[in-house]
Amino acid sequence: MCGIVGYVGNKNCVPILINGLKRLEYRGYDSAGIGIVNHNSITIVKNKGKVSFLEEKVDKLDLESEIGLGHTRWATHGIPNELNAHPHANEDQTIFLIHNGIIENYQVLKKGLQSFGYEFKSETDSEVLVHLIDSFTKRGHDITKSVQLSLHEVEGTYGLAVISSKEPDKIIAARKGSPLVVGIGDNENFIASDVSAIISYTKQIVYLEDGEIAVIKKNEFTAKTAFDNEIEKEIHEISMTLDEIDRGGYAHFMLKEIMEQPESLRNSIRGRIIDEDGRAILGGLRDVVDKLADSKRIILAACGTSWHAGLVGEYMFEQFCRIPTEVEYASEFRYRNPVIEKEDTVFFISQSGETADTLAALKEAKIKGALVLGICNVVGSSIARETQAGVYTHAGPEIGVASTKAFTTQLTVLALISLLIARKKNLSKVDGQQIASELKLIPEKVEEILKLNLQIEKIAEEFKDASNFLYLGRGYNFPVALEGALKLKEISYIHAEGYPAAEMKHGPIALIDENMPVVFIAPKDSTYDKIVSNIQEVKARGGRIIAIITEEDEQLNKLVDYAIRIPSTIRMLMPILTVIPLQLLAYHIAVKKGLNVDQPRNLAKSVTVE
Ligand code: M6R
Repeated sequence: MCGIVGYVGNKNCVPILINGLKRLEYRGYDSAGIGIVNHNSITIVKNKGKVSFLEEKVDKLDLESEIGLGHTRWATHGIPNELNAHPHANEDQTIFLIHNGIIENYQVLKKGLQSFGYEFKSETDSEVLVHLIDSFTKRGHDITKSVQLSLHEVEGTYGLAVISSKEPDKIIAARKGSPLVVGIGDNENFIASDVSAIISYTKQIVYLEDGEIAVIKKNEFTAKTAFDNEIEKEIHEISMTLDEIDRGGYAHFMLKEIMEQPESLRNSIRGRIIDEDGRAILGGLRDVVDKLADSKRIILAACGTSWHAGLVGEYMFEQFCRIPTEVEYASEFRYRNPVIEKEDTVFFISQSGETADTLAALKEAKIKGALVLGICNVVGSSIARETQAGVYTHAGPEIGVASTKAFTTQLTVLALISLLIARKKNLSKVDGQQIASELKLIPEKVEEILKLNLQIEKIAEEFKDASNFLYLGRGYNFPVALEGALKLKEISYIHAEGYPAAEMKHGPIALIDENMPVVFIAPKDSTYDKIVSNIQEVKARGGRIIAIITEEDEQLNKLVDYAIRIPSTIRMLMPILTVIPLQLLAYHIAVKKGLNVDQPRNLAKSVTVE
């Protein structure tokens, strides 16, 4: 949830830390801070609010140092303020640290430390760590050993970086449950919770695993287990460029990412279809495909938008693979002791690959012996590495908090997996070919829909002051209704609900009057007549209707107040198209309300705490 960056080398680390924090801000942004060492004394500067506020403060101080740490915080324990911001230091001001994650036994540890006279300045769980480490240095251990011994006493999760002014040549980093990477440079090394923080300096990356502790000096990097065994770490060359991360001329990352969808969908499909056979090939599933196709049951577990993708996946798997499929909120899955058999396959769907609830559910499914697979966007992420096999979505970096291209590429991968399994089971070559050729046409159909941007912006102007919205869809488009409502809620702060359209008469219809905009996802499919009736019912009660309809549909075009006409495809792929206008509608409403689209209040891009 929070962001970590650290530097040791020959350069002044202050601008490097500030730049890194700016790149990490999307992970958490209620406060930020840096800590550096100069002439064996430490300086810590912290600020509530955005990194730009911290930058202003730091600029006035004219700081310089060759070693330091930076942190952006998203509060879990203690309100966002300067005292609770990281780094946290010991009483003697000789050790400071930054921490992502949650120390679950911090109350017990805090009591113990207080009984030895330690005083706490913040309300955070993280501060306990710095005093604990201090207590071991006071017993004669060096900083590395003190961190190691402290972590033996800690229950919970951490991505941790520590510096001691008494050993100012090194950063000690440790990981358990929160991502941490080491960047290898020339006469300089880096740490970060996310490669985007350090990519402008190095592309040589080492991924730390849970339970590992690293000692990072300017010319040296070593990694050990918690029990002191040295580990040989592989250096990965990463291919992500800064251009990929930057906004690319758009006003917001969200708009850039919506507009990038034709390209990300092409990347997601590329090399994965054999047209003449009507088959999919997914290298990541090669070794498990037989077991997957023989699964007695498939479970799709995820959170938020990825969970909505799972709901669409359920329709696909049941229709084409004829395998009973269930969709689970990852957060609930872990705690209700789910019945999982060895013949089950559990897919974990996650853009970031770092969502704590999804990761915890994954561990639970693994213990119970299911085949555990991943659908992730971020290459090398924790979920991608913890699963037995999986498929990358190849959406490219998604920075805007509201997930857009991650969703449509997840749907694409789910369609490819359905095709893969279905062709192994009983789907005919002809039917396989139809899915394959429709999939290939999707990117250009998305391009067509994106041309409706101006029309959708005008609709947003009409509706920007509404206080509530209802989204309704049937079948494959019911999850799209949920996703459209989530998009609107999270960035425009307008209350919105998604429902299966047929459920309207069981309750939500009571809400409908002239102040209730209703968004229908109503492409021409087998439920079309039914949804036309639902639209009539809303009209009869004065509701204002926006409808996503297929191009040739003159009936609904005349009936509804605002029709957004999009190209058509086969039912299973329709959600990839119908969701695009809903992303644009939410985006434009939020912009017109003057809101921070990329960093909506109270949210973080990657929810790495439970
Ligand atoms: O990275 P993940 O896909 O695991 O994230 C899951 C949710 O936190 C995420 O989809 C969230 O709901 C988005 N902000 C929605 O736009």
